[in-house]
Amino acid sequence: MSTELQTILVLDYGSQYSQLIARRVRECHVFSKVVPYSISAAAAAAEHPAGIILSGGPCSVYENGAPGMDAGLLELGVPVLGICYGMQLLCHTLGGKVIPGTAREYGHAEIQIDASDGLFEGIPQHLDVWMSHGDKVAAIPNGFRPVASTPSTEFAAVDWPGHRVYGIQFHPEVVHTSHGQEILANFCLKICGCRGDWTMENFIEEAVRDIREKVGSEHVILGLSGGVDSSVAAVLLHKALGEQLTCIFVDNGLLRKNEAKSVQNLFAGNFKMNLVSIDASERFLARLTGVSEPEAKRKAIGGEFIHVFADAARSIPNATFLAQGTTYPDVIESVSINGNPSAVIKSHHNVGGLPKDLQFKLLEPLSRLFKDEVREVGRKLGLPQEVVDRQPFPGPGLGVRHLGAVSKETLDILREADAIFVQEIKAAGLYYNKLWQAFCIFIPERTVGVMGDGRTYDYIIALRAVESTDGMTADWADLPHSLLARVSDRIINEVRGVNRVVYDITSKPPGTIEWE
Ligand code: XMP
Repeated sequence: MSTELQTILVLDYGSQYSQLIARRVRECHVFSKVVPYSISAAAAAAEHPAGIILSGGPCSVYENGAPGMDAGLLELGVPVLGICYGMQLLCHTLGGKVIPGTAREYGHAEIQIDASDGLFEGIPQHLDVWMSHGDKVAAIPNGFRPVASTPSTEFAAVDWPGHRVYGIQFHPEVVHTSHGQEILANFCLKICGCRGDWTMENFIEEAVRDIREKVGSEHVILGLSGGVDSSVAAVLLHKALGEQLTCIFVDNGLLRKNEAKSVQNLFAGNFKMNLVSIDASERFLARLTGVSEPEAKRKAIGGEFIHVFADAARSIPNATFLAQGTTYPDVIESVSINGNPSAVIKSHHNVGGLPKDLQFKLLEPLSRLFKDEVREVGRKLGLPQEVVDRQPFPGPGLGVRHLGAVSKETLDILREADAIFVQEIKAAGLYYNKLWQAFCIFIPERTVGVMGDGRTYDYIIALRAVESTDGMTADWADLPHSLLARVSDRIINEVRGVNRVVYDITSKPPGTIEWE
């Protein structure tokens, strides 16, 4: 049996769901890759895809300059599925007609399915689906077959018998579409014939082989922050390389309570990795003295980190590879619609800009994985749940959660308050994993209070807890008042220097998640 990686290409037409489609395909245990819609048939063929999915998108296919497709993609001999805009584009390209709809369909719709084969094998005939379209297909290309409809959309699904081309107007990738995952599984497994062997066990096995082959007998260094990505990268590389890996951990004095200790205990203690742990907190604090402007603080922290990391890297003279915990969303080329389609690759912020004398070969063993896959790899490799489920923590650490210039004393206040907030959220069950982030902010302003018989004049702590799927937008979390009350009581009673706790009820936009 062939074990060659089978790939479904997801052509991105600017839909907010393109990445979600790719993730859903992977949940069918099939590898998927998001590529710009402008990919040529030749470039697509070079990926040896098992199938192609055209995503939704914000444009109208009949407009001038609307994103199109290389018609050669239909000659590759692999199944093609168009979703929403993708379906309209397929119909438009193959001689059908797409027009502005008179009744827009946004949100829930019920479709009637008239076929029990192809995408709809084993799917009930009445289906609750999620729609989001203004345009609709008014006439299907010759040879196409209508497969499903709603009262206002005659062609809610179509296919082209004998050619393995399929179109659906609704979104199978969103959870509001019932049986959506099964429809995608029908496409990936039955129609494209994928084996469904993209599992994290297989990934680990393959990654270990790859890493060993690439690295040979050379030595690798990894900047370990203790966050999910670098922690998972560390254990994966350690499994592959053992002693040939050295992790570098920098305590910049802007970490959370007990963070440095727990990283040392876990990686040097439990996993027995080579760990160079540097306490650079004084150096960072000295550099940050009097620096209060947010961008200046970020620059100072980033610049100092490069210095400290470079010094540590030089202390490992035989290192030739630099590993990073880059993940798939960091490297997806995002298309920008309604402007010149441009391929923007986000640069990873961890260890960019090392000095010229440090020229490493780059190793990014997680660059094909989505975050939930990274977490699963971590679990499979024995990382504790609390590390695997860790919320994101920004590179500049507490530096962007402490307004104005930092000092050891006020950072300690922030650290204590933050530990209480997180501890109470975890103790309340359920919430921690539902939240994208929950943390405290130190506000260097003092307000008047009364404690016991005395007047106080102390600092303010703000609580920030948000729900989000990618950090790009976020809603403030509606935490129970009883939980907020407990946190407020504990912070004011247990943290010297704080007499007022406030809750941030700003969404993103217009606010950012961090305060600086
Ligand atoms: P904002 O505050 O811009 O943050 O809404 C969005 C997400 O990005 C994280 N963040 C950072 N992560 N280095 C990082 O690694 C940074 O400099 C940085 N700044 C913000 C933030 O925690 C949130 O999850």
